[in-house]
Amino acid sequence: MSSTKTPSSTLSPPVLKSLKLNSSGLGQSATSKEQPAPVSSKLQAPTLSTLKISTPKFSSPKLATPKLSFSLGGDNSTITTKPSSAKPSSKLSTPKLNFSLGETITKPNLKPAAWSPSATPLVLVKRESETHDSMSFTFAAADQALFDFKPGQFVTLAVKIENKTHYRAYSISSAPQQKQLRLTIKRVPDGLVSNWLADNLSIGDSLSALNIAGQFNSSDCKHKSKLLLISAGCGITPVMSIAKTLLAHNSDADIEFLHCARDKDNVIFHDEMQTLLTQYSNFKVQLLLENSDGFASFSANDNTNEKTNSRALSHQTGMVSADVIRQLYPDLNQRTIFLCGPVGFMKAVENIAQESDFDMANFFQESFTPAADNKQQDQISSGATETSVMLHVPDFAVEAEVIQGSLLLDALEKHGVPVIGACRAGVCGSCKCKVTKGSVTSTSTETLTEEDVEQGFVLACSSTLRDDVTVALS
Ligand code: FES
Repeated sequence: MSSTKTPSSTLSPPVLKSLKLNSSGLGQSATSKEQPAPVSSKLQAPTLSTLKISTPKFSSPKLATPKLSFSLGGDNSTITTKPSSAKPSSKLSTPKLNFSLGETITKPNLKPAAWSPSATPLVLVKRESETHDSMSFTFAAADQALFDFKPGQFVTLAVKIENKTHYRAYSISSAPQQKQLRLTIKRVPDGLVSNWLADNLSIGDSLSALNIAGQFNSSDCKHKSKLLLISAGCGITPVMSIAKTLLAHNSDADIEFLHCARDKDNVIFHDEMQTLLTQYSNFKVQLLLENSDGFASFSANDNTNEKTNSRALSHQTGMVSADVIRQLYPDLNQRTIFLCGPVGFMKAVENIAQESDFDMANFFQESFTPAADNKQQDQISSGATETSVMLHVPDFAVEAEVIQGSLLLDALEKHGVPVIGACRAGVCGSCKCKVTKGSVTSTSTETLTEEDVEQGFVLACSSTLRDDVTVALS
């Protein structure tokens, strides 16, 4: 889930504090690296009776943000350009103020800067357990910027473990335009990064990230006002972001949420779904549990009043099937479906939709396959046929013999080619590279355009070597 952006630095716009103007108007601008906000052109330039400029101390010597004190015609008012705690940068957006004389402006409508992953690390501010093997990590940007993403997208983290950086893409489970970004991560058996994060990441630790991306999102995927959100296991993470955003911004939306899990102990976001149920009458949740023993008491713990009881989470025992879907959603064909879960589960739901004559233009899905660690990938590779083929990567002077049928991503990593495999599931695009000679077998071209495919681009995590190949990183 990624592509690399050129690093750039950003500076939060200056915070303008309460400003009261009287009929004598506002003073002239001062000469400094950062100008105070321009005022409406309707105002006549007044005379400053007092102008003091003092330079506060900053860690960066390059951009000093001055504190400007104005005394306006005897009515003392102050504009303070307040430095952000983050590193200053050259990218300063200048706020505009529109006001009339004598009007008190308490809070200018300044939108905080959007987070730039390549410029600002994430700082962990909260971690909470969701189930016995999954937890949510809430991050803030070091410069307090807003996280600007589309509900359903993912972020690629760069996690350094024993001096080696590993890239992993994780779906975002919070809603956009917040100052916090929540990732909900499930431990993968033998998974290097997921387990390292769960065992080692502490409050105050920072992590680098590459980007936010993803085509599976409710902003770009055109949808109806009636929706059916379906998830299984940890596939609930992007779907929860979609649900919360739609509920917050689409009061006319009719949102049904079907979540499948093994049992009550594996229901991620149980309490959060319960809370959303009490807040939004246009939201319904159905849990489908393979084993629902003990579910009644589990759910009842959260139902402390009559209102909540009437909107309690409903559940059924069983696996997803055409009968269950048709029984629960007789109006299925009037809805848009967003689906995320393990591959087998998604295939089953897709088949049910097709058998039900569902218009697949209204069907959006993203496979959620937890990133396997290198050990698992090696095992996959070693299961391939023993015939050898040659891997050439001229840009990195690689000429290596590898087993035919090996995963291209594994082969590149094994021979020191700095390819990034963030999702290892063919959905993020970070491992895009070009096969200039020879051929591979690809199971996913999800993030590639037709033109990319024609030109020989492939996703290394989803391509196995068929014969001798020459590869260039994109
Ligand atoms: S690593 Fe994400 S598409 Fe290959």
